[in-house]
Amino acid sequence: MEYNNIISEKEGYFQIITINRPKQLNALNKETIAELSDAFSKADNDKNVRVVIVTGSGEKAFVAGADIKEFYKFSVEEGKRLSAEGHQKLFDLVENLSKPVIAAINGFALGGGLELAMSCHIRVASENAKLGLPEVSLGVIPGYGGTQRLAQLVGKGKAFEMITTAQMISAQEAYQYHLVNYVTSPEELLNKAKDIATKISRNSPTAIASAIRSINAGYKAGVNGFEVEIEEFGKCFGTPDFIEGTTAFVEKRKPEFKGE
Ligand code: CAA
Repeated sequence: MEYNNIISEKEGYFQIITINRPKQLNALNKETIAELSDAFSKADNDKNVRVVIVTGSGEKAFVAGADIKEFYKFSVEEGKRLSAEGHQKLFDLVENLSKPVIAAINGFALGGGLELAMSCHIRVASENAKLGLPEVSLGVIPGYGGTQRLAQLVGKGKAFEMITTAQMISAQEAYQYHLVNYVTSPEELLNKAKDIATKISRNSPTAIASAIRSINAGYKAGVNGFEVEIEEFGKCFGTPDFIEGTTAFVEKRKPEFKGE
């Protein structure tokens, strides 16, 4: 697939995906969502990718939301389809990717932009970032998972406040609410994301995939996260990565994981 709205680059074990519509503050139109879906799926299937980093181009925005100009004349049915397809093609895909995804939030992360960051496993924000779910100021609600994932990350009370006031918060406030893991200067943002990615990439990709499935299981209705953990723990014992990791410990050397 040819990309017109994103740039996807390999750097060692990292796949760096940059949303690249700076004049529209990287707003997520249908084409951008399709391209992101393709890039994340490819990274998921690429054995040489161990971590994905997603960021926005330009100094102003990570992503300023779903593309309002594209949907403002939609009917009830079209609105429902926009949300359902977004969940399935991008936001659920990112959350359930078999490798960690780090959002490097370089500016506005609003509406669908914050929802994309919240689908990622780890978030780092630059100190100029502004985060919020302003949808009710447009007469709509967060439709890419925001009502669920914001409450999971910051608790129900703060989620109610952020969603109903539609106000933006600063990166520092987002850090205090546990919405982002770190705040850096704009210049240091990508380096911080890469530092975390480097630490991740030294570990077993198969065990990390098991950990992601186990953590996510705890947030899925009707699924018992503890049972999934037991299953995934057991499965690890059948992997070459487990043999390598435990043998390296006994032999007092660094493991070399192949992700098998
Ligand atoms: N959709 C479409 N275009 C957008 C956009 C969006 N979400 N956000 C910004 N843009 C466009 C603007 O229309 C403008 O384009 P033109 O130059 O062609 O007019 C360009 O990006 C620059 O934006 P501004 O001139 O508005 O820049 P600013 O610095 O004055 O303001 C801002 C920045 C406060 C982020 C403002 O752009 C804004 O409020 N954007 C909308 C934020 C928003 O409401 N996001 C939620 C979208 S709804 C959603 O996401 C639904 C969902 O959950 C599925």
